[in-house]
Amino acid sequence: MPPRHYLQFKDFSVDEYAYLFERTAWIKRKFKNYEPWHPLFDRTLVMIFEKASTRTRLSFEAGIQQLGGFAVYLNTRDSQLGRGEPVEDAAEVISRMSDLVMIRTFEQAILERFAARSRVPVINGLTNEFHPCQVLADVYTYIEHRGSIRGKTVAWIGDANNMCHTWLQAAEVLDFTVHVSTPPGYTVDPQLAGVVPGGHYRCFADPMEAVRGADLVTTDVWTSMGFEHETDDRLSAFADWQVDAAMMAQAKPDALFMHCLPAHRGEEVTAEVIDGPQSVVWDEAENRLHVQKALMEYLVLGRMES
Ligand code: CP
Ligand code: NVA
Repeated sequence: MPPRHYLQFKDFSVDEYAYLFERTAWIKRKFKNYEPWHPLFDRTLVMIFEKASTRTRLSFEAGIQQLGGFAVYLNTRDSQLGRGEPVEDAAEVISRMSDLVMIRTFEQAILERFAARSRVPVINGLTNEFHPCQVLADVYTYIEHRGSIRGKTVAWIGDANNMCHTWLQAAEVLDFTVHVSTPPGYTVDPQLAGVVPGGHYRCFADPMEAVRGADLVTTDVWTSMGFEHETDDRLSAFADWQVDAAMMAQAKPDALFMHCLPAHRGEEVTAEVIDGPQSVVWDEAENRLHVQKALMEYLVLGRMES
């Protein structure tokens, strides 16, 4: 049987997410109680980074160790990956020496080529198109604070980037709505996002309209990794898409604010909002650890009894 991968949010069903969220709660509780849990004893996770990372590296490396395994870190500068070795050859070799692979790279197509050749499960640690592990943590964080996300409204303000695409997929799988507001010229491409046009999302020219009545307001950097040459243009194009207190005031009074981090206070969000009482950004960051432990366990061992 070919291994199961986690390359984009829609790779898993609503039932699998229900299992993963329950399992995450169980794994998190054990961690908080200092109870060891080593289902991946002696297993090896290879982490390949073609872009920078703090949270993703730390949460995967700490996570696999807490589950009893080991992590090996590779980047393109110090390995043959950056010197033209075919992705398929790298996948064959790396997956013969490991139990699980996590990749952060540029095009989704590179990840898919690697996964197609890999003998072990492959996890998307961020591509230009998607960041499923982050939205997995974000939805889990929403559930922890407010209960089920089904039927709720999430306002996405800013760039139609990897995080936005992943929220759009999550809305289809978990049955909620996303209100998207992006500057002209930076709008959602449903084909790139892998979603039904207009299905579970609505686009708004005015960010204030998008946020009205939302249960959750979320944004991200205006310039994602790999697009740095566009920074100056983006700074001016996105100026009216800053999430500030006036914008948050349009959402429901108990709306949450999320940001995957790293954040730029004074650009996509004000300090007042990200450091304010509606913000759950630190829980989001911490939950990367817990959801990914559940994810790694699931991909290697399948469903477990809690
Ligand atoms: N949110 C996130 O993926 O952070 P890093 O880039 O630090 O991994
Ligand atoms: N959209 C951002 C997310 C960083 C975690 C990027 O791709 O750089």
